[in-house]
Amino acid sequence: MDLYDAINRRRDTRAEFTGEPVDEAVLRRVFGAAHAAPSVGMSQPWDFVLVRDPSTLDRFAAHVAQERDVFAASLSGERAETFSRIKIEGIRESGLGVVVSYDAGRGGPAVLGRHAIADAGLYSVCLAIQNLWLAATAEGLGVGWVSFYREEFLADLVDLPEGARPVAWLCLGSVANLPEVPDLERFGWRHRSPLDSVLHQERYRTGD
Ligand SMILES: Cc1cc2nc3c(=O)[nH]c(=O)nc-3n(C[C@H](O)[C@H](O)[C@H](O)COP(=O)(O)O)c2cc1C
Repeated sequence: MDLYDAINRRRDTRAEFTGEPVDEAVLRRVFGAAHAAPSVGMSQPWDFVLVRDPSTLDRFAAHVAQERDVFAASLSGERAETFSRIKIEGIRESGLGVVVSYDAGRGGPAVLGRHAIADAGLYSVCLAIQNLWLAATAEGLGVGWVSFYREEFLADLVDLPEGARPVAWLCLGSVANLPEVPDLERFGWRHRSPLDSVLHQERYRTGD
């Protein structure tokens, strides 16, 4: 699969997981791709906790269900109705959760390139996640990013050390297929905008 194919075929995966175990060599390649990401000051501030224990998956899924309810309670009318039909995670079905965390202390105290922009560390972690996501796609695997959680809950669940911040729970696993259309489009929640709506020349604002 070439890079543009992987970019275009990548999909957030929820209902497609089969639970089929993933070959360890494939997983090593996927995490190798994540670990090859660029990072501010070469800080490589990411860690990956692989979670397979069904009781931990259950505890996280129960917490996410609660947070889903919190969000649902903020909606009304058509939004509430549309959201009620959208699946937001495949935690148990994927059989493997990957907690990606950020350690702001890594590579410090003087992180080259981060003195003015503290968030550059977080950006680096997100690039590792994107590398992981694309590599998983190229391997025919699915990834689903879950963000319906409280950071303290997840840090405690997988025993992150002091100073490490959870950035994502990724459901990772074998899939029956990767859908062509994102779920949020399929269910009418929101659509991908046209490229020209986000491309600007010279200045963001034009006209006045
Ligand atoms: C930071 C981040 C958090 C996300 N959180 C969730 C989530 O909690 N549940 C979910 O179903 N999808 C989640 N997604 C997936 C998005 O809904 C998805 O990327 C978007 O709808 C576009 O679809 P696609 O990834 O299949 O192209 C998240 C994606 C990102 C980048």
